[in-house]
Amino acid sequence: MNIPDDALQALLRPALAERAGLTRQRALYMALRDAIRGGTLKAHSLLPGSRVLAKTLAVSRNTVNAALEQLAIEGFVQRERQGTRVLMLASAPVVRNTPVISLAQRVRTLPQGVTRNSPALAFTPGLPAVNYFPTAIWRRLSERVWRDEGSALLGYGESGGERRLRAAIARHLALARGIHCDVEQIVITEGAQDALMLCVHLLCDPGNSAWVEEPGYNGAKSAFLAAGLQVKGIPVDEEGMTLAETITPPRIIYTSPSHQYPLGYVMSAARRLQLLEAATRTESWIIEDDYDSEFRYHGDPVPAMLGMIPNPPVVYLGTFSKTLFPSLRIGFMVMPPALANAAASVINSLLRGGHRSEQLALAHFIEDGHYARHLAAMRRLYRKRQAQLREALQNGLDLEHRVLGGEGGLHLTLSVTGMNDLNVVREARRFGLAPHALSRFYLQPSPVSSGLVLGYGNTSASLFPGGVRTLARLITQSRGG
Ligand SMILES: Cc1ncc(COP(=O)(O)O)c(C=O)c1O
Repeated sequence: MNIPDDALQALLRPALAERAGLTRQRALYMALRDAIRGGTLKAHSLLPGSRVLAKTLAVSRNTVNAALEQLAIEGFVQRERQGTRVLMLASAPVVRNTPVISLAQRVRTLPQGVTRNSPALAFTPGLPAVNYFPTAIWRRLSERVWRDEGSALLGYGESGGERRLRAAIARHLALARGIHCDVEQIVITEGAQDALMLCVHLLCDPGNSAWVEEPGYNGAKSAFLAAGLQVKGIPVDEEGMTLAETITPPRIIYTSPSHQYPLGYVMSAARRLQLLEAATRTESWIIEDDYDSEFRYHGDPVPAMLGMIPNPPVVYLGTFSKTLFPSLRIGFMVMPPALANAAASVINSLLRGGHRSEQLALAHFIEDGHYARHLAAMRRLYRKRQAQLREALQNGLDLEHRVLGGEGGLHLTLSVTGMNDLNVVREARRFGLAPHALSRFYLQPSPVSSGLVLGYGNTSASLFPGGVRTLARLITQSRGG
């Protein structure tokens, strides 16, 4: 069916006029496209040849040809010898209301996320003292990397991350964590969270089971649930995860043995060996999250499980979120050699090496001794802050409570039975305080699992006494006192 000239003119001239701000070619393309989509130009109808169309619309032939060519590329028309044929399109779905969004079943039960990018409030857990980070040194090292490497940095890096950074990490781990590994065993990730997800991809199939600590780190639960794993909480006591007579062994076991999150216990040597034995026997994998072990304030560092026996079934996770700053988003995992070997080509398929300048700046930061110096300074600062917070709690909290959290890290955990910790946390925000509710870290909270996780890493000690008094008042109110 040919479209008469005058009909085409009546249709397109006003449509072109409406689009006067655009180029002629773009305006014509849009006018025709909308007329086809809207059904004004029917399927199978034939537009006149480009010469006629150009004359009818008073535009150049090149303009017409370019617009028709674009429509042909996008599948609206087909150019034929006799002219341009309008093609049949499936009718677009009519969306009257907001579409119903249904997320995958397996992400519907994740622990509720917390807003992490709000302004730093007092007692926010997990935040280091970012204002002490030596930004001038970092800037200088970044400039050095760009000067030395230039545009060579702009291509993809190795899937496992910059070799130089991996070598620097390997040297640091040998000195600080008793882990002796080579570069091939290390993969650089976007923080520990990314490493957790990578572990699941490498080791688990949907439906496999995972044990997590109860209470425990929600990031691990989220990674496991989102991958379709069955997650079971294993209670924690003062020696760490209680293994007791749990029958079916899981595929992976997540633990934070050097400083249990959030209760702060150090897993005893007996439990570590028990866990290693059970995992070896049942071909399970232990994921050892060593998120803040660099900050121990008494005694020697607690050795990592990965270094305890030869070829352990352990994947070790480290992060620079606590030792440097969280937005760096650099963490890493260390696999035993056999796993590293087996996983090498999968890692090549799954990962693309990027963020090369940051990784190289970090390698220089470690190599030049700035990392060790910063850690030492932060250890001194946090040790003092922890003692000051303990003192503020002792003086300002005249209600029954227990202070947990151990001798290290960046937080203390206040266990207060029978309080509504979610309400206290909500109210505390109004006073510029951002502790986390202890009950949030349980898969199955109970009245004895209430309390507050108080970060002191990024909170000046001058805020402790007032902050504790405010929290004491809110806790008393929440218990109806
Ligand atoms: C127990 C635990 N593991 C790991 C991390 C670090 O996560 P990321 O390296 O992804 O910042 C945190 C941070 O809050 C944590 O609390």
